[in-house]
Amino acid sequence: MPESITPHTRKVGLIGWPVGHSGSPRMHNAAFAAAGMDWVYLPLPVPVNPKDRIGQAVRGLGALGFQGANVTIPHKRNVMSHLSDISAVARAAGAVNTVTVRDDGDLAGDNTDVWGFFSVLEEAGWSAHSGSALVLGAGGSARAVLTGLLEAGCRDVRVHNRTRTRAEELVRDFRALYPAASMRVIGSEREVSAAGREVDLVVNSTSLGMDPHIDTCPVAPDFPWRSGQWAYDLVYNPPATLFLSRAGHGGARCIGGMEMLVRQGARSFEIWTGRMPDLDLMRRELNLHLGFQTDG
Ligand SMILES: NC(=O)c1ccc[n+]([C@@H]2O[C@H](COP(=O)([O-])OP(=O)(O)OC[C@H]3O[C@@H](n4cnc5c(N)ncnc54)[C@H](OP(=O)(O)O)[C@@H]3O)[C@@H](O)[C@H]2O)c1
Repeated sequence: MPESITPHTRKVGLIGWPVGHSGSPRMHNAAFAAAGMDWVYLPLPVPVNPKDRIGQAVRGLGALGFQGANVTIPHKRNVMSHLSDISAVARAAGAVNTVTVRDDGDLAGDNTDVWGFFSVLEEAGWSAHSGSALVLGAGGSARAVLTGLLEAGCRDVRVHNRTRTRAEELVRDFRALYPAASMRVIGSEREVSAAGREVDLVVNSTSLGMDPHIDTCPVAPDFPWRSGQWAYDLVYNPPATLFLSRAGHGGARCIGGMEMLVRQGARSFEIWTGRMPDLDLMRRELNLHLGFQTDG
């Protein structure tokens, strides 16, 4: 946070309901302060009711002098109808998590979850062009995952979800956008295991394993993990989930959800300010917010 907030302080924030639990204000304010920037990031709780509260809130951003805002549950999808320009990636993902107020007052929407998800995987060395993936889940984050994989050139994706119709709807939507890719819905546990033997990346985009349900896992204990395979869990609390622990024991290379969370925030920061924040600092602040041990 800046030492004092004045009429010149630039404002961004987090629109959602609830927002009190979020580490984003702490993470962004620490990064603004470290960079010597007179900016502040505020929690902006916006309920679903009365009707059109989200419309009133985003349309008011410019009038109140905000540079933009992050948008989280439950508004990521319904905010889209109030924006004048939406990036191709956000349209594919069907969700906006970053709004920018342009100089002319127009509102632009982007989705930094997609970049947050995929940049970690790419840096870790996974190749989308030659890779194949099994995505577990068909909710909002699964859409960001599929967008990241398919935009990067992955051409073999299987989707499994508890509610099969949701997986079918997801695959139908993405087939229309990425006709060159092979996409299949996987149903039974036996099919999930068979897919596990073939793909080189397994992504958990369900909420299974998340605190307090830390003893739940989206795949069976005998899932055929193998050496050289990749396991990516979007769940970030706890940092070491049952899914990753089993994958690691099976020889897979493991990626937790914390880095995606840091990077989606960092990318929003960059969109608003034109500067990349200190990623180590953001990571540390998020870990402290969640009560996790940090290295320094
Ligand atoms: N690391 C990050 O930056 C990041 C970003 C976004 C989300 N996430 C995490 O990703 C997870 C999913 O988030 P989301 O936004 O996609 O949520 P969502 O839209 O509510 O989707 C939840 C998904 O989990 C499945 N699921 C929930 N309970 C289940 C159960 N008991 N058994 C089997 N499947 C179950 C749902 O299946 P049904 O369709 O059958 O209900 C659905 O596929 C959360 O843990 C969230 O914290 C992390």
